[in-house]
Amino acid sequence: MDKLVVHGGSVLKGAINISGSKNASLPILAAAILTGEDCIIRRVPDVSDTNYMIQILSALGADVERSSGTVRITCADITDEAPYELVRRMRASICVMGPLLARKGRAVISLPGGCVIGDRPVDLHLKGMEALGAKVEFEGGNITLTAPNGLVGAEMDLRGDSGPTVLGTDNVMMAATLAEGITVIESAAAEPEVLDLANFLNSLGAKITGAGTRRIVIEGVKELKGVEHTVIPDRIEAGTFMAAAALAGEGVTLNRVNREHLKAITAAIIKSGHSVEFNEAGDSCFIQRGENPQGVDLTTSPYPGYPTDMQAQMTALLATTPGTSVIKDTIFPQRFMHCAELKRMGADIKIDHGTAIVRGVEQLSAAPVMASDLRASAALVLAALRAKGTTEISRVYHIDRGYEHIDEKLLMLGAKVERVRV
Ligand code: EPZ
Repeated sequence: MDKLVVHGGSVLKGAINISGSKNASLPILAAAILTGEDCIIRRVPDVSDTNYMIQILSALGADVERSSGTVRITCADITDEAPYELVRRMRASICVMGPLLARKGRAVISLPGGCVIGDRPVDLHLKGMEALGAKVEFEGGNITLTAPNGLVGAEMDLRGDSGPTVLGTDNVMMAATLAEGITVIESAAAEPEVLDLANFLNSLGAKITGAGTRRIVIEGVKELKGVEHTVIPDRIEAGTFMAAAALAGEGVTLNRVNREHLKAITAAIIKSGHSVEFNEAGDSCFIQRGENPQGVDLTTSPYPGYPTDMQAQMTALLATTPGTSVIKDTIFPQRFMHCAELKRMGADIKIDHGTAIVRGVEQLSAAPVMASDLRASAALVLAALRAKGTTEISRVYHIDRGYEHIDEKLLMLGAKVERVRV
């Protein structure tokens, strides 16, 4: 297992390109199941989650070819049973369920495990599949869904106790593309990655309107064709580097971003005293650390609100920002594993029922810390950039799940970081 060694006192300067979105790529790769024709998907980031999805699709019988960021995938002849061992290890693999059921009339997929950020139920996914006429059974850790006479369009509300479901919306939208008649999803997730998936599906020949809003309408079609598509930029990777630039930067440019997708993150970085300027086209931004940073209160909420996937990174920035900050995660109230590790580095954070009270300290100190999940690991790297001394971050495989070559990008910006194989 690798570890990242980060030498404190790093000053970030220069420019990097942001990669394609992991969270858009995963459902789009799964959506290729819906057609027997070639799909060419560009700017798929080389991270373990997408590599994992490609493994699952290959195990289902897809023919997959990958050259740098471009993936050609052809699901001419596929089976309806997803490999248990592969699926149980990545929650997002649940998004093969909808396309598999729609294409084959049957889908067998393992119940996804939970993870450190919280219990990851799929009740809303199954509610949607049943609304489309599927029969759902559980056996041996697998979910078996059957719709021998095909799926039938229906109206449904996919709101859960914590609001909309991103992958649940994706699953139903994909399944409904081949259902008989009209499907209406109320309380749909409106994340940019959902809209990117809808755009991909429409280019396959689906008939989807309203994606990107809380109400999506899908008119079923008989079959879908192959297509070429370029994935949107990864707004969470961009946000992570924005926070890094605010924490330890002297002028950092991020290219290949999308200003529209970054509104809530940009507002939080500016509110905490730093500057973010976009170019005219909105596809590049320049971040300068402010002279008088100040604590802010943040509450995560579904898009277009402040993203839960940027909560840990902002906590790392606020840990050494003067003042008191109150950070509440309404989507994953347990998503504070990074705080224990930040406290090991000297942060002053108190957790209380899904809320972190962060009192800014002058400087953190290096300590051997352990990554626990994807975004928590990113938060530890950020904290280490300005900490006193050298921080060793173990279990870096967590970070490799969702950040493409993060150490190389940090090195390009002048950070003193190296990956050590142990
Ligand atoms: C997606 O996960 C993202 N993953 C997550 O990013 C992100 O944190 C999450 O959306 C919220 O924005 C991908 O897109 C691959 P949800 P997803 O269903 O779809 C509850 C990262 O760091 N819920 O939107 O699995 C759930 O418990 C990852 O890149 C139900 O109750 O999340 C949560 O509280 C981590 N029943 C809330 O809804 C369900 O059936 C939102 O979850 C499904 C979800």
